[in-house]
Amino acid sequence: MSRPLLIDTDPGCDDALALLLALERDELDVVGLSTVHGNASLADTTRNARSLLECFDRTDIPLSEGAKLPLTAELETAEHIHGPGGIRGELPEPTSATEPLEQHAAQFIVEKAREYEGELTLAAIGPLTNVALALAIEPDLPDLLDELIVMGGAAFAPGNVTPLAEANFRSDPEAAARVVRDAEPTIVGLDVTNGANVPGEWIDALPEETALGRSIVEWFTYYSGAQLEQYEYETTAIHDALAIAGIVDEDVLETETYHMQVGTDSDLDRGALVCDATDVTDGKPNGSVALEADFERYRELLTGSVERTLDTLADRRA
Ligand code: RIB
Ligand code: CA
Repeated sequence: MSRPLLIDTDPGCDDALALLLALERDELDVVGLSTVHGNASLADTTRNARSLLECFDRTDIPLSEGAKLPLTAELETAEHIHGPGGIRGELPEPTSATEPLEQHAAQFIVEKAREYEGELTLAAIGPLTNVALALAIEPDLPDLLDELIVMGGAAFAPGNVTPLAEANFRSDPEAAARVVRDAEPTIVGLDVTNGANVPGEWIDALPEETALGRSIVEWFTYYSGAQLEQYEYETTAIHDALAIAGIVDEDVLETETYHMQVGTDSDLDRGALVCDATDVTDGKPNGSVALEADFERYRELLTGSVERTLDTLADRRA
């Protein structure tokens, strides 16, 4: 029996590979996508999500647009990392087959959670604005979901946008604070996703005869040389795909539960995920954080899904 999964996303090169993995695995049934500002504007992330559904031949999956802006923060996007328009590669222009729903993503998330009566997993792999809005609409959302998986935060690892803050949490600290406080998330942050890369020689051997093949290579190499050096990555970290791999196979990630909070006050701590590892507060545990990962199993899952997807969609000529 496959797990129904809704992905809230800001595609985004690593989002694209996370979606590829989710769509290719029989353990998962992607029942919807919702888009959010983040790596690019909402207009761009929505266009990218639609193009990806067309690229993967999954125009059957409903897509709902969400927040254009963070709850209170200024919009900050990451085209300098993910490319002009928020994604690299040769993607098809969206068609009427992937027209977004009228419904806002926050409402869509709540409706889907109710529809699946406790069986739905929500994977949030962009800023948490839509999830925070969904919580505001339906405070019982955590009880309506089977699980909320969040790619974001840095519990004990340095941030990738500030010394303390990871990009998704920094993009909307108020949203991250509400989700961490109220939604009992499983957080897949930089503590593990910094290691979510694949071997360069495997990337180099990928077929590039088709537009899809060339796009996949771009998605695996979206960090520039300078960024690889800055983050001390051998090859690009595919952050979002590790969160999805942890849903496909629960042995991929090892988590610990903590009382956690997200900073929203000073510019120094905005978006910082703080886990109370020394019981400074009397706060009860409100979520779990992935601190270890089976990267060998992760790489086996992701590379296998990419190879099978390229075989299946081999007729994608440029
Ligand atoms: O910090 C990594 C996260 O920020 C990923 O979700 C990536 O897509 C960007 O959104
Ligand atoms: Ca993302």
